[in-house]
Amino acid sequence: MDSQIVRIFDTTLRDGEQSPGASMQKEEKLLVARQLARLGVDVIEAGFPVASPDDFSAVSAISKDIQDGPIICALARAVDRDITVAAEALSGASRGRIHTFIATSPLHMEKKLKMSEDQVLKSIFKSVSMARGYGYEVEFSAEDATRSEPDFLIRAVTCAIEAGAGIINLPDTVGYAVPSQISEMFRNLISRVPGAGNVIFSCHCHDDLGLSVANSLAAVEAGARQVECTINGIGERAGNAALEEIVMALKVRKPYFGVETAIRTEEFTKTSRLVSTVTGMMVQPNKAIVGENAFAHESGIHQDGYLKDKKTYEIMGREQVGASAGGLILGKHSGRHALKDRLLTMGYSFGEEELNDLYDRFKKLADQKKEIFEEDIETLIVATGRKT
Ligand code: KIV
Ligand code: ZN
Repeated sequence: MDSQIVRIFDTTLRDGEQSPGASMQKEEKLLVARQLARLGVDVIEAGFPVASPDDFSAVSAISKDIQDGPIICALARAVDRDITVAAEALSGASRGRIHTFIATSPLHMEKKLKMSEDQVLKSIFKSVSMARGYGYEVEFSAEDATRSEPDFLIRAVTCAIEAGAGIINLPDTVGYAVPSQISEMFRNLISRVPGAGNVIFSCHCHDDLGLSVANSLAAVEAGARQVECTINGIGERAGNAALEEIVMALKVRKPYFGVETAIRTEEFTKTSRLVSTVTGMMVQPNKAIVGENAFAHESGIHQDGYLKDKKTYEIMGREQVGASAGGLILGKHSGRHALKDRLLTMGYSFGEEELNDLYDRFKKLADQKKEIFEEDIETLIVATGRKT
């Protein structure tokens, strides 16, 4: 399946909700799901229905509510009851997907599942066939794929495809891999698994080593055509790969990657704020794409370049991600050019000498204050004796 389209699978409401302290109420999940639909994600993983009655009811409500656009997905272990409950929760969806998973690494099979390789293979075949039997499309995840033996991983994925899985996800469950290993894993599977050309390969990277976005991009380069990610990168432990970072990397560097997504990136800031509000998880100011400082320039040299041509210090426009904040921040590193520019936008034109006087006052104040706002400038202007 060699396509130039990368599908965006959002798991904010499932893996994202697994962030400590980030649980959401059903109504909040509905708000997020509607915003994800506006953002244009291809798949919304709405929850893990067997996990709790609340999760069931949220998946069911989202399935009924979001009838156009994204596929609604429900998670299920490779266990009969999980699959039955997931199918039931999805019953109102116009397009539903069951996402079933089982671990394939020696460590997980031996210590956690206490199952042999053959038992795991049987379980994969049974669960995928059962999910297909409900008429939904089926995604299979080989949990802890990046620590699995490559040959066994090929057998597991082959078995899932034979049973009817249309999407094969290879998660870096514990955020252990580095980009070159991720590339190798995807290339190996895509070239060796029989029937690989008829399914979509997907990546799902965690951020334990801070490599989740780099690893997701490496997977795309190696042929993955679905990326699983969350808004603001929230998720289990250090989180999942941040959706907005992956999408903007693919967009800004399109000539390099040669692929596209269907995401309406102007919705990013709004979506990020909504998720931050409902989960109570703050976004750090220097967070790429959606952080408050992501488009702010404070140093004099940068401000001077920016005023001459924004592209000197910006690789994307803030309007592309729907941000209103940004531009030139006035502070102790700002130069005369930035102050003069702000004065012009405030409707003032200062001669050279007046500007020098105001700039001296500005610098003194900036030493005491983190950021200088327009109200501060008005006060400084009054102090120079000029009427505002
Ligand atoms: O990280 C992981 O392996 C998962 C699976 C359930 C896909 O979240
Ligand atoms: Zn995960």
